[in-house]
Amino acid sequence: MTDKTIAIACDHGGLELKNILKELLAARGLQILDLGTDDNQSVDYPDYGYAVAAAIRDGRAGRGVLCCGTGIGISIAANRYPEIRAALVHDAFTARMSREHNDANVICFGGRTTGPGVALDCLEIFLDTPFGGDRHSRRVGKLSNPA
Ligand code: RB5
Repeated sequence: MTDKTIAIACDHGGLELKNILKELLAARGLQILDLGTDDNQSVDYPDYGYAVAAAIRDGRAGRGVLCCGTGIGISIAANRYPEIRAALVHDAFTARMSREHNDANVICFGGRTTGPGVALDCLEIFLDTPFGGDRHSRRVGKLSNPA
């Protein structure tokens, strides 16, 4: 069932962090759809952002996790898909807000900017925090329909 499946991907700048985050997902009993990259060879982050975005769009995963060097490029890539609300987070507060206010379905990290302890906390919060609904629903609805 796709809600329990988390798509995850990274470029070479996010590989180490991706592998750490996968351990948390596995410990929580979630299915992991790992879409690469798998080694330190230099790759292009858009390919990996698109891979996770497409997996969610196509119903192969319910949510996604992305890591690149800063988290910036890979979040921009994922957000090209109208179905995706990818949030680059840096701390517990931004992780919580990404769910409560933005109903983020992808969380993004910078492997060169965010340490593993903070990233693990953020991922737990992302998985556990419900969307706030109410006024935020109207705003989130507008995200998929730019003027
Ligand atoms: C790769 O060197 C780096 O540009 C990439 O990981 C990311 O930081 C892009 O936003």
